[in-house]
Amino acid sequence: MIIAIDGPAASGKGTLARRLADVLNLRHMDTGALYRGCAFEVLQAKGDPSNEQDALKGCKKLKEKIQSTPDLNIILGNPELRNDKVGNAASKLASISSVRETLKSIQIDFSCQEKKGFNGVILDGRDIGTVICPNAHIKFYVEADLETRAKRRLKELQSRGLDVTYNAVFAQMRERDDRDTQRDTAPLRAAEDAIVINTSDFTEDEVLEKALAYAKKVRGL
Ligand code: C5P
Repeated sequence: MIIAIDGPAASGKGTLARRLADVLNLRHMDTGALYRGCAFEVLQAKGDPSNEQDALKGCKKLKEKIQSTPDLNIILGNPELRNDKVGNAASKLASISSVRETLKSIQIDFSCQEKKGFNGVILDGRDIGTVICPNAHIKFYVEADLETRAKRRLKELQSRGLDVTYNAVFAQMRERDDRDTQRDTAPLRAAEDAIVINTSDFTEDEVLEKALAYAKKVRGL
């Protein structure tokens, strides 16, 4: 079984994906972490994430690291990938189609590999239901209004001791939303057959309940 989850930053898609993975016993891939991983390599090499050659070098480095590590989650779980500088750089290189092609194969491989003991996979990102897994059995599009998302991100960054303001977080998030929705290749949008969940007024438990109720209805899970 394949579940695809898409949505903008801080919409709650990652939390929902992790919780569904736990409840339904699925392997999970946070595909944003691939783009962040690539951006991290570019920034480490003092490159420009908007420059195709620099971005492709970053992809190559990331792929080499992935190939030499048995557990992908060690690389994608690096806490240094979580800051907004890396997120912003990720959204710049994510609009380069050759970069998307390179990272696509990693995501497709992950979605196709059957692993003993698991019921399937769940991937979250921006183009999972539309490009990476258009035949996913269940697709969710998770959204929330920009103010709510900026407040969530501010809280998260402050809890990590970072000195940030609401206005700066809001502006950066709007800039990233614009880039992600307006790019030519694989722009962020809901797949036609995705179920849309707006998380603005719901707790994480309520969002999980809604998603599980839907999964039960369509797949009998
Ligand atoms: O989800 P996250 O905020 O970690 O993603 C970082 C950036 O990576 C996004 O702003 C987006 O530009 C890009 N991305 C993408 N396609 C995906 C996942 C992430 O373009 N499937």
